[in-house]
Amino acid sequence: MGLEPFSADDPIFSHESVLRDTYTPDDLVERDRELQEYQNALKPVIKGEDPKNIFLYGQTGVGKSIATEMILDRLDQDQQQYDYLDIKSLNILCKGLNSSYQVSVKLVNEFRPPGEKIPPTGYSPDAVLEMLWTHLTELDATHVLIVLDEIDSIGGNDDILYQLPRANSNGNVPPEETKIGVIGISNDFTFRDNLDARVKDSLAEEEIHFPPYDAPQLENILRQRAKKAFEDDVLSNDVIPLTAAFSGQESGSARQALKLLYKAGDLARSRDETTVVEDHVREAEPLVEAGKVEDELASLPTQSHLTLHAVLRLSEEDELPVKSNVIYQQYQQAAEAIDADVKTDRTIRDRLSQLSLKGFLDVDERNKGSQGGSYYLYDLDIREDVVRDILEDDDRMAPLYGSETRTLGSF
Ligand SMILES: Nc1ncnc2c1ncn2[C@@H]1O[C@H](COP(=O)(O)OP(=O)(O)OP(=O)(O)O)[C@@H](O)[C@H]1O
Ligand SMILES: [Mg+2]
Repeated sequence: MGLEPFSADDPIFSHESVLRDTYTPDDLVERDRELQEYQNALKPVIKGEDPKNIFLYGQTGVGKSIATEMILDRLDQDQQQYDYLDIKSLNILCKGLNSSYQVSVKLVNEFRPPGEKIPPTGYSPDAVLEMLWTHLTELDATHVLIVLDEIDSIGGNDDILYQLPRANSNGNVPPEETKIGVIGISNDFTFRDNLDARVKDSLAEEEIHFPPYDAPQLENILRQRAKKAFEDDVLSNDVIPLTAAFSGQESGSARQALKLLYKAGDLARSRDETTVVEDHVREAEPLVEAGKVEDELASLPTQSHLTLHAVLRLSEEDELPVKSNVIYQQYQQAAEAIDADVKTDRTIRDRLSQLSLKGFLDVDERNKGSQGGSYYLYDLDIREDVVRDILEDDDRMAPLYGSETRTLGSF
């Protein structure tokens, strides 16, 4: 049959972009308590006083980033009526930034025009911090709120989380010049639990937890978006409750629920049907789940990607299952090949257990026999091609997958 003409006719969606992650809803439903706590934590700022540092945590897709965006917009509007205030905010997505150093560089560059940006390497950490203090001091504002979203990317390298919240009290940035407040956001509970006590003290003056949504809450969120996204009378009655029930059980994530509803609508449209029914949701569910695994894999930090790469190599050579020391040798070579920090085998064992917890690896405990004690054997628990596709797409990993390394053979 070949190609059909493109057609803009769409009996299903009126504004499908409303279901995308990039869309900003008019209101945040089902988050009144969290929004109130959040606004309350920012109360000192609007009174012109020193900000409290805030730490926001909760699983993925529960509204942490969107709530922050809305609150800061509102603060920006409301401050106009107070002459004594000039609050600025800086929102940094830390995804892909693997150390405090990289976060500091990114912050410094936020203040610099094109042409004066500093490169990602080459300065000492202290020099970069000095630049940051100068920019913050010279900033023409009474307050600056620095949002570090997805802060877990920096892993154990969390010096910036110590330095920034204390910049005023340590005299690095005089508070009479600029008062600094830090808002850290994370969906990684291990990161929160492992924060150094001195970091926790200063960063988490106020902790706000965003719990997962239950099915009735997801229903309300979906209804709000569906009204705008779909044509009238396209959704059969059970579609939203079923979508909410699936996502409520699975993850409690609004992002996941919206994806599922979008996919169900898309399946109906691709078949030239004029209504979305329960079966579309059931069919969409495994498709969205598979996509979630890929997203999760892609968002892992470089050190986890290196660890997975090591396991993948062993899997390709039919060596699995293996003990962690074998994985560690492969890991070391890979880390050196891409010029990354080579972590200790203890750190890599932690990564392996995190990857197992997330369901990417399979781990089997074996007894050593007469000497007592036990050890672990690791295997890959997802398809090789899925892992390979993701690692190939990570720029940091390119030297391991680019054509040059192929001609050198595997190491
Ligand atoms: N209460 C809500 N009402 C309407 N939409 C919501 C609500 N909560 C979340 N969403 C939507 O769900 C999606 C995910 O929200 P958001 O990006 O804020 O999640 P997050 O908690 O920051 O997740 P992550 O930890 O993965 O960054 C967005 O599209 C957002 O608009
Ligand atoms: Mg977020």
